Amino acid sequence: MSLDIVILAAGQGTRMRSALPKVLHPVAGRSMLGHVIHSARQLDPQGIHVVIGHGAETVRERLGAEDLSFVRQDRQLGTGHAVAQALPGLTADTVLILYGDVPLIETATLRRLLARVTPDRLGLLTVNLADPTGYGRIVRDAAGAVTAIVEHKDATEQQRVICEGNTGILAVPGQRLTDWLGRLSNHNAQGEYYLTDVIAMAVADGLVVDTETARDPMEVQGANDRRQLAELERHYQWREALRVMAAGVTLRDPARFDVRGDITVGRDVTIDVNVILEGQVVIEDDVVIGPNCYIKDSILRRGVVLKANSHLDGAVLGEGSDAGPFARLRPGSSLGPRAHVGNFVELKNAQLGEGAKAGHLAYLGDATIGARTNIGAGTITCNYDGVNKHRTVLGEDVFIGSNNSLVAPVDISAGATTAAGSTITQDVPAAQLAVGRARQRNIEGWKRPEKIIKP
Ligand code: UD1
Ligand code: CA
Repeated sequence: MSLDIVILAAGQGTRMRSALPKVLHPVAGRSMLGHVIHSARQLDPQGIHVVIGHGAETVRERLGAEDLSFVRQDRQLGTGHAVAQALPGLTADTVLILYGDVPLIETATLRRLLARVTPDRLGLLTVNLADPTGYGRIVRDAAGAVTAIVEHKDATEQQRVICEGNTGILAVPGQRLTDWLGRLSNHNAQGEYYLTDVIAMAVADGLVVDTETARDPMEVQGANDRRQLAELERHYQWREALRVMAAGVTLRDPARFDVRGDITVGRDVTIDVNVILEGQVVIEDDVVIGPNCYIKDSILRRGVVLKANSHLDGAVLGEGSDAGPFARLRPGSSLGPRAHVGNFVELKNAQLGEGAKAGHLAYLGDATIGARTNIGAGTITCNYDGVNKHRTVLGEDVFIGSNNSLVAPVDISAGATTAAGSTITQDVPAAQLAVGRARQRNIEGWKRPEKIIKP
């Protein structure tokens, strides 16, 4: 069975009160439309057709990809009219309609829906609602067969009592679509070409409308304003929290845990409150993450301890290493097994070998640091001369005294020591002591200046 997917994303979204097109507003760090496209791709369709209108150019720029075809709908004349714009590109046996502002739809639900479609059967996704106000209502005959969808504004009092609502998500046999959409009219309460009128046409043509129900109403919930956007965000985060807990993670508070990307977690991981995981994050077994940590595109190997308020971006923390509180590891940084980085230490493109340590207040940029080497408090690499970046290379078992300035490019070989307060501008051979500071003088009989009293 071949599949074309049409995603409606042309609407304005006035209630967002935003310069950004509605479908580009993010849920969990990814635009709503991005979520829908992501789910659509999992179904391996032959085509994904995105109907755009308001903010069309911005949407195309932000989400353009080879496997997407964008179709313009310059005037929003209704959902039926929107799908009709995509018709020239639709050639598959089955056409599935999705919505750019309904981001949490799950592929498992869509698969169940698609399984119902045959050349003479449609699949309609419905939802049972406590308050169906605003939704199209599913009208069934005495035998329970679907006969039509009636929009809220066109519905009679008896029809408004129906609690089964139309989600809008629909899968239809492709060959029929051109005929049905061509016969739509806009003689209704809203003066729009309703996609939903296709249902009654299909029934009149002798097709059966089979329904599937969204188990979780949030899956089919759209966002029209920022409050609904926040509700979707919270729901998404709750779902992620359940997923990681099921995988063996203790979350100190699942309501204060945010995932904005794809994460892989091991067992017996503990995550304290207010931790944000973004991009591609891998957390192996027995990792402990303290409160208020931000972790982006990083790997935390088995047994890592990341203490409170640390910030990781593009970092790899080796087995049993620890960092923080208040550590900042920037792209290209790595800690070898059991290496240690303490408070107010910033690493950028710096690699610490096994058991190396930088306990306090340091900036290590463009540096290679050998196993067991110790960096004293207050040490910085002077890696930038105002034009180019240079590397600092420290061998194994080096001891850098406190408050050193390591002026790159510079090499300090294995076992060397530098005196506290040194400015190191020359390479240091193995096992030697480098002293790079002015010698101290004590001046006997020196008097402090006295305050001049003005007349
Ligand atoms: C639609 C359904 C209704 C269903 C409800 C679920 C129709 C006629 N009605 O109503 O049965 O219960 O969704 O939320 O389909 N869009 C376009 N171009 C257009 C019109 C709409 O791209 O010309 C897009 C909108 O951006 C939006 C989606 O289609 O994402 C739904 O349109 P909207 O006008 O909000 O439909 P509803 O009135 O909510
Ligand atoms: Ca709507």
